[in-house]
Amino acid sequence: MSTSPSISNLLFLFLFLLIAAASTTVSATDHIVGANRGWNPGINYTLWANNHTFLVGDLISFRYQKTQYNVFEVNQTGYDNCTTEGAVGNWSSGKDFILLDKPKRYYFICGTGGCFNGMKVSVVVHALPPPPKSAVSADHSNTKSAASASTPPPALWVLIAGLLMGFLGFSL
Ligand SMILES: *[C@@H]1O[C@H](CO)[C@@H](O)[C@H](O)[C@H]1NC(C)=O
Ligand SMILES: *[C@@H]1O[C@H](CO)[C@@H](O)[C@H](O)[C@H]1NC(C)=O
Ligand SMILES: *[C@@H]1O[C@H](CO)[C@@H](O)[C@H](O)[C@H]1NC(C)=O
Ligand SMILES: *[C@@H]1O[C@H](CO)[C@@H](O)[C@H](O)[C@H]1NC(C)=O
Ligand SMILES: *[C@@H]1O[C@H](CO)[C@@H](O)[C@H](O)[C@H]1NC(C)=O
Repeated sequence: MSTSPSISNLLFLFLFLLIAAASTTVSATDHIVGANRGWNPGINYTLWANNHTFLVGDLISFRYQKTQYNVFEVNQTGYDNCTTEGAVGNWSSGKDFILLDKPKRYYFICGTGGCFNGMKVSVVVHALPPPPKSAVSADHSNTKSAASASTPPPALWVLIAGLLMGFLGFSL
C-alpha cells in the first residue's frame, strides 16, 4: 500500500482547515488620520473621528513630516492640556501604524507643539460587533443556537476533522 495518498489527503485536510479558519476571520481597518490631509495643524480631528467607527483590532495610522511632528499616546489630561507627561507611547517615523487592541478611548497628540494647533485626536474603540445580522436575526428566544451557529466552537472543528479523516479512510 502506497503512502502518497495519505500524505495528499493530510495536505487536503490541512488546507481545508486553513481555509475554514481564514473564512471566519474579520478583516481589520486601517484608519488614516485626516485621510488625505494627514497629521497636520489646523484640522479638526474630532470631525474626522466622528466619521469613523473604530473596532478592536483596527489600526490608526498617522502620516506626517517626521522632521516637524510626531505622535504621543497620552491620557485625557494630556489630551486636554497638550502635555506628554506619563505618555503611554510615542512614534516618530512619519508613517506610524498603531494597533487599537483594547475597547477604550484612546488619546493621541503631537508632542512638538502641533497639539496647540489642533493636532490632537481622541477615538473610542468598540469591542467587536456581534456576528452578521443574517446569523443572529432569527429571534431573541433562540440566542444560544444563533450564537453557536455563527461561531463554531473548537470542538466542532475537531468533529469536522474527525469526520473528514474517517471519510478519507484514516484510522487513528
Ligand atoms: C471641531 O468640531 C466639533 C464639532 O463640530 C466642535 O465641537 C469643536 O469645537 C471643533 N474643534 C475645534 C478645535 O474647532
Ligand atoms: C466622512 O466620510 C465620507 C465618506 O467617506 C467623506 O466623503 C467625508 O468627506 C467625510 N467627512 C469628514 C469630515 O471627514
Ligand atoms: C490642565 O489645564 C487646565 C487649564 O488649562 C488646568 O486647570 C488643569 O489643572 C490642568 N490639569 C493638569 C493635570 O495639569
Ligand atoms: C494622566 O497622567 C498624568 C501623569 O502620569 C497624571 O498626573 C494624570 O492624573 C493622568 N490623568 C488621568 C485623567 O488619568
Ligand atoms: C518614547 O518611547 C520610548 C520607548 O518606546 C521611551 O524610551 C522614550 O522615553 C519615549 N520618549 C518620550 C519623550 O516620552
